[in-house]
Amino acid sequence: MSTHNQELEALLVAESITITDNRSGESMEIPIVNGGVSAEEWAKLLPGIWFFDPAFMSTAACESAITYLDGDAGILRYRGYPIEELAERSTYLEVAYLLLNGELPNEAQFSEWKHDVTYHTFIHENVRKRFLEGFHYDAHPMGMLVSAVAALSTFYLDAKDIFDPESRNKQIIRLIAKMPTLAAAAHRFSVGMPFVYPDNTLDFAPNFLSMLWKVAEPHYEADPVLARALDILFILHADHEQNCSTTAMRVVGSSHSDPYSATAAAAAALYGPRHGGANEAVIRMLTEIGSVENVPDFIATVKAGTSGQRLQGFGHRVYKSYDPRAKIIKRTADEVFAVTGKNPLLDIALKLEEIALNDEYFTSRKLYPNVDFYSGLIYQAMGFPLEMFPVLFAIPRTAGWLAHWQEMLDQESKIARPRQLYIGPEPRAYTPIDAR
Ligand code: CMC
Repeated sequence: MSTHNQELEALLVAESITITDNRSGESMEIPIVNGGVSAEEWAKLLPGIWFFDPAFMSTAACESAITYLDGDAGILRYRGYPIEELAERSTYLEVAYLLLNGELPNEAQFSEWKHDVTYHTFIHENVRKRFLEGFHYDAHPMGMLVSAVAALSTFYLDAKDIFDPESRNKQIIRLIAKMPTLAAAAHRFSVGMPFVYPDNTLDFAPNFLSMLWKVAEPHYEADPVLARALDILFILHADHEQNCSTTAMRVVGSSHSDPYSATAAAAAALYGPRHGGANEAVIRMLTEIGSVENVPDFIATVKAGTSGQRLQGFGHRVYKSYDPRAKIIKRTADEVFAVTGKNPLLDIALKLEEIALNDEYFTSRKLYPNVDFYSGLIYQAMGFPLEMFPVLFAIPRTAGWLAHWQEMLDQESKIARPRQLYIGPEPRAYTPIDAR
């Protein structure tokens, strides 16, 4: 055996696990590759014995080259680039390109990408007039967005050609471009204001702000500090590997449905308070606390666990240290408040953080502020109603969803179809209704 092969074998032995079926005494060695062991290998020794992992706590459902996340060390990188550097130096549109294409664009690539996105921001008049305006007057904008994105699939029948590179690219551009238009339309409808058409002379974030806030002026100029803050928030929310909504995107996409339907499913997953709805819950919690003096009592109630209250914006399935995005957002908040005036809830948030970070209950459970703890304060100071918060999350996350959708299709993955452990009744005979 060559030295090279011996080295390889030694590596394999060190980087592997051995499983033994105690019923038969049979053993099998499975290599550990990229931090995981293959369930396919496992099934060779143990067919019909399933991993019981309802919330995918210990399951890697795919291989991915998009985002690296180390929850213990508080590290987040998109395609290898640290989130801190991207938030400092890049723009959302550039980051979206990076996530989707694997590399940062050169000037020519960026200019084409920006042009394509800018010129696909308009939505079909029927989406606005007949579809969006058909909602009840108090419809939640996130519900409107989820439905409107799904409805787009009926306008772009070529979207079903998911293996045609040209068609796929066109739908990706349309989705990235139209999300802010749909989001702004949902907001304008919910406050009874007329729809504002996209302005192709504006960049991504200023255009969105124009569609949201423009009243009678011929050209809306967003405050550059607020536009940049929003762009940074978009960068921070653009991807977060296999979170709940991205998993929804991959699962639905694995059935080869069109990208609008899959994105609507992902957005629906984002809607929940455990995911994209958490920053709304943070503001409600801070408002309920009311003043800095009430913070210790509130913390005591959370710790007692009797009210079922959680400290919203704290804790994360993956981060077991300070969420790196929360650090950047905290800095951005100061810049925004310099323009808008301080959000009066900030002092309560700071006090909560201070107490929680020094309290054994939170430190022993590794509960730290997550991305949602401060983002809601910024959105609120910028004038967004609470209902818009998950919508603001969905706009940039569309880039991440689509990057994962595309990656999954290129991996020729099988349809997602987990197994179950059946715990229901044994076979029994049907009883007619009059005999029950
Ligand atoms: N406040 C108080 N206690 C908490 C909290 C919290 N925010 N989060 C977790 N715990 C406790 C929980 O009670 C449990 O304690 P014990 O071991 O005594 O039973 C322990 O910490 C572990 O909690 P878990 O529910 O098993 O953890 P999880 O990984 O399933 O939940 C989470 C993660 C984010 C759903 C949860 O931390 C939470 O509900 N946080 C508040 C909501 C929130 O901020 N969500 C936004 C997440 S970040 C944005 C995104 O990615 O979508």
